[in-house]
Formats: sequence, structure tokens, C-alpha cells
Amino acid sequence: MEYVTLNNGVKMPIEGFGVFQVQDPTVGEQAVTDALNVGYRLIDTAAAYFNEEAVGAALKKSDIPRQDLFITTKLWVQDAGYENAKKAFQTSLEKLGLDYIDLYLIHQPFGDYYGSWRAMEELYSEGKIRAIGVCNFYPERLADLCENAKIPPAVNQVELHPFFAQAEALDNMKEYKVQPEAWGPLAEGNHNIFSHPILSQIGKKYGKTAAQVALRWNTQRGVVIIPKSTHRERMEENLNIWDFSLSQEEMDEISKLDIGHSEIVDHSSPKTAKWLNGWKIHE
Ligand SMILES: NC(=O)c1ccc[n+]([C@@H]2O[C@H](COP(=O)([O-])OP(=O)(O)OC[C@H]3O[C@@H](n4cnc5c(N)ncnc54)[C@H](OP(=O)(O)O)[C@@H]3O)[C@@H](O)[C@H]2O)c1
Repeated sequence: MEYVTLNNGVKMPIEGFGVFQVQDPTVGEQAVTDALNVGYRLIDTAAAYFNEEAVGAALKKSDIPRQDLFITTKLWVQDAGYENAKKAFQTSLEKLGLDYIDLYLIHQPFGDYYGSWRAMEELYSEGKIRAIGVCNFYPERLADLCENAKIPPAVNQVELHPFFAQAEALDNMKEYKVQPEAWGPLAEGNHNIFSHPILSQIGKKYGKTAAQVALRWNTQRGVVIIPKSTHRERMEENLNIWDFSLSQEEMDEISKLDIGHSEIVDHSSPKTAKWLNGWKIHE
């Protein structure tokens, strides 16, 4: 496994395992157990995924030393604000059965996220979180947070895959020393990604699948990836990308697949702001 070093010196695996849309607790626990067994050490969950307990159960069963794991969870919009964020963090910690979190992220750029950030800065300073960051912060919001935060975000987790490459957003993150992390690195299965002719053709040369080529492309751009699968053989496939390299020509060819916008969610739309502000995860 390769690692990236965050702006506070913390080392983060460049590939991890995501558990979005895995709500059944038995399936979730088994998926995380399988992921740990095949070699993943970074697990990416969120309060809004309703599976922190299942992740915690799998971690408890595992004999991997805590310091070898890198656990990410996220603060939901409903819990934005200083007091709420502190409470929500404690709830996540308890559900996961942990006494610290490696990476705590603001899940969406909505609500009182400056209040949340102040709470997260304090939790970080108290040693309860090893790194703090954000998700879905588009360039102007990220720049604003970086200009105003006491502790700058270490990570920005955004949608990044060959069909939504976000080259300018990556430049902005680089300027502010914020590590990019890809959600939906397999485009959530859209764009015919698993049998895409260009990705498949490039993969053939190396004995790799289209999925492996798409994942490798992101890591070669310095992006952390967290593909999700509930199938063990796919977890292995997605992790088996460390014995080949794409040439610059191949990297450029894949970058040309970019359509310049998301077909999953548009964070610049007022409808998205309304929808996500209204999404409740507890009473
Ligand atoms: N911060 C955010 O706002 C945000 C948003 C979305 C996601 N995320 C995080 O990012 C993680 C990854 O994103 P994602 O889950 O949305 O999408 P993804 O990883 O791009 O795609 C997952 C889909 O691809 C399938 N799949 C995985 N590997 C495959 C392979 N080798 N061959 C064929 N199919 C394969 C999975 O099916 P099976 O499970 O059936 O194998 C699943 O349907 C999430 O789990 C979550 O942790 C964060």
C-alpha cells in the first residue's frame, strides 16, 4: 500500500474502502471484514450512511492493530454548528467503538459549517481526531475556508473519476495543500465504466480491467481513492492496481473522457442545497 502525507504530517493510505449504500448491518459488517482481510486499511463511513455500528463491529472482531487502521467518518448537515458537531462526533465515536478518529470530514458544504469547523479544530487539538477535512467543497468554498480556518482542512473528498476529472479543482486543492480524495472513483457504475472501450483497451495491455485502469489513473494524479463493493472478488480486483503504471499518453487519453460536470449530484444547484438541508438522519 502506498501512502500520502497530509498537510499536518499524518500518513493516509492512498487507497481505502467506502461503505456508502451498505445499510444492512450484516452485509456491512461482512463487507468491512472482507475488506480488512483482503488488505484495505482505510475505511470510509459517515453518520449519514447508517452503518457506523456495523463498521465498528467489524473493527472490533479484527485483530489488526488500531494504529494500522485509518478510519474516516463524516458530520451530517443536520448536525452542523459548534454544539451539534461536538455531540455528533461523540455519537460517531461511540457507534464505531473507537476512542479517536483518523479523519473527520464535514459531509456537505451546507448549514453552519464554520461552527462545525471550530468544534472540529478543538477536537483535533485535544487529540480526538488525527486530521480534519471537508467533502464536496467546490473551489470557492474551499478557498474561503482555507483563508479563514485556524487549522486548514487536510482533505477534500469530492466526486472524481475519468468522466468528472475536475482538473481545476485539483489545482485549487494543490495551492492550499489540501489532499484530494475521490468519492465515486468508479463513477458509481455510470458511463458504462466497467466495459468502457478506452479503459478496457488500455487495461488489456497490462492484463487489467477497466475498473483497475480508472482507479490507477486517479492515484497517479495523486488522488486518494475509496472504491466500494460488497463483493470480495471485486474488493481484491480494486486493490490490485499497484503492479502497473499508466504512461503519460494513457493518462491524457483517459483525462479526455471528462464531460466537465457531475451526472450524480450538482452541488452548485439551489435544489441540492434544499434537498441536503432537508435530509434528516435522526429526530
Ligand atoms: N462524501 C460524499 O459526499 C460521498 C458521496 C458518495 C460516496 N462517498 C464515499 O465514496 C465511496 C465510493 O463511492 P461510491 O460507493 O459512491 O461509488 P463507486 O465506488 O464509484 O462505485 C460503487 C459501485 O461499483 C460497483 N463495483 C465496485 N467495484 C467493481 C468492480 N471491480 N467491477 C464491477 N463493479 C464494481 C459496486 O457494486 P457492488 O457493491 O455490488 O460490488 C457499486 O455498485 C463510498 O462508498 C463512500 O464511502 C462519499
